[in-house]
Amino acid sequence: ALADPLKVMIAGAPASGKGTQCELIKTKFGLVHISAGDLLRAEIAAGSENGKQAKEFMEKGQLVPDEIVVNMVKERLLQPDAQENGWLLDGYPRSYSQAMALENLEIRPDIVILLEVPDELLVERVVGRRLDPVTGKIYHLKYSPPENEEIASRLTQRFDDTEEKVKLRLETYYQNLQSLLSTYEDLIVKVKGDAKVDDVFSEVSNLLSSSLEKKTQSVASA
Ligand code: AP5
Repeated sequence: ALADPLKVMIAGAPASGKGTQCELIKTKFGLVHISAGDLLRAEIAAGSENGKQAKEFMEKGQLVPDEIVVNMVKERLLQPDAQENGWLLDGYPRSYSQAMALENLEIRPDIVILLEVPDELLVERVVGRRLDPVTGKIYHLKYSPPENEEIASRLTQRFDDTEEKVKLRLETYYQNLQSLLSTYEDLIVKVKGDAKVDDVFSEVSNLLSSSLEKKTQSVASA
């Protein structure tokens, strides 16, 4: 039998590099990237009732209530593409109740990557972040500048990417970190996220490769 596909969670403070690493992981491992923040921003863009409500919390740097987030992520996770190719959950779960919602469905990752970046670097990363609405690519004015003028001229900024708001988001992050650590104690691997993007990725990539290898071996010996 084939091993079931890899299931990965990625966690870390705001602007710790989750989205950036997910793009690279997706390309190399073919996992389906499910970002709770991206799903919420899509609801906002669509003008849905959930999106309107979610935006009020996101503007305050607070967690969006479970009534909105839990089903939204669960439905995406249970889609056939994620079940067949494996998944990469980005920014979810962020609280004890979200983690328990997954545990109750017997949805467990193989590994949880926790990106660690010193607080003082996060503000600079947030205020310099830009997004390409055409390709979805994440840029940074200083660390990952756009390739050309055409791209540079169309870059946008997220509404919650201000110095004031990232401080609130960081507070929320620290309030909830412990519930994540305790739920996935045996699966968490901490990765230093303040190195160059490619160096962070080579560490992440090695971890995922050995996790995948372990799964394949356990199937082969069963
Ligand atoms: P979400 O969208 O998840 O935001 P976040 O957690 O604050 O994380 P970010 O997306 O800001 O950062 P990132 O870690 O992906 O960093 P990136 O790779 O872009 O959540 C937003 C809001 O939605 C929350 O505040 C909450 O309200 C709500 N929400 C989301 N999930 C929820 C949940 N589960 N429950 C309830 N509410 C929820 O990198 C950042 C910048 O740094 C970029 O410019 C990048 O180019 C640069 N960079 C990346 N890596 C490096 C590097 N190694 N060196 C130098 N620069 C780098």
